[in-house]
Amino acid sequence: MAPSTIDVPGAPPKPDLTREMVRVESVTKQFDLRHNHSLKELAFAALQRKKLKDEFTALNGVDLTVHAGETVGLIGFNGSGKSTLLKTISGVLFPDEGRVMLRGRVAGLIEVGAGFHPDLSGRENVYLNGAILGMTRSQIDDRFQDIVDFSEIEEFIDTDVKYYSSGMFLRLAFAVAVHTDPDIFLVDEILSVGDEPFQKKCIKRIRELQVAGRTMIVVSHELAMLQKLCSRIVVLEHGKIIYDGDPRTAVARLRATAA
Ligand SMILES: Nc1ncnc2c1ncn2[C@@H]1O[C@H](COP(=O)(O)OP(=O)(O)O)[C@@H](O)[C@H]1O
Ligand SMILES: [Mg+2]
Repeated sequence: MAPSTIDVPGAPPKPDLTREMVRVESVTKQFDLRHNHSLKELAFAALQRKKLKDEFTALNGVDLTVHAGETVGLIGFNGSGKSTLLKTISGVLFPDEGRVMLRGRVAGLIEVGAGFHPDLSGRENVYLNGAILGMTRSQIDDRFQDIVDFSEIEEFIDTDVKYYSSGMFLRLAFAVAVHTDPDIFLVDEILSVGDEPFQKKCIKRIRELQVAGRTMIVVSHELAMLQKLCSRIVVLEHGKIIYDGDPRTAVARLRATAA
């Protein structure tokens, strides 16, 4: 993991710990693994009377409470369940056990450009994605220019998104998301994708959202950046929360796991 070079000015504001915005209770999520075992594996399993594992537990009894104005970092190695947890909170995935309670409107970038359509232009995608994220047409009209300005890709706004580079795609997707003004904002890995000037701009915007009292959960591998951005960091390992608290301790905990 390369150390982050992104400067994060200031400190996160104090959250309102009396107001719960997200409550995840004993959430378990399993995925069916496709039955793609070879004939040989199946034969051996049958001979040994062993059941082949066909379910994978991506989240295993996760409890998480996020308060108003908190920015919670979510870290863990690949496959530890970070995206699955965000998707469960956003309602894209439904938990097998447990429940998720939310106060207010949730939006964000679950995956870069999720909800973007390759055969539509940037402009059309702003409207499509804005609608998916809960904005009305007139709200999007009002914010359209701000979104385009933020993305810095005005030149290409009427080009089909399939011709965009991944960086352009990311810029537009992030620009739409940060202009939707959700109560709870979920950010998955996108901060690692853009170039440095754009990352700085995203962080500045996240700070503004923090100051405005928004609640955020941010997944990133940029540990140093996250440590400065967040009021709290949660460490996931094999679908379980192994630490939840002080950002520095969380990062040290993850690094210790790697050793
Ligand atoms: N739709 C799916 N079907 C099957 N397995 C999945 C699916 N989505 C995620 N997984 C598995 O769940 C685990 C957790 O994935 P994910 O939440 O994406 O991890 P992270 O975001 O921390 O890298 C991974 O092992 C992944 O392969
Ligand atoms: Mg992920």
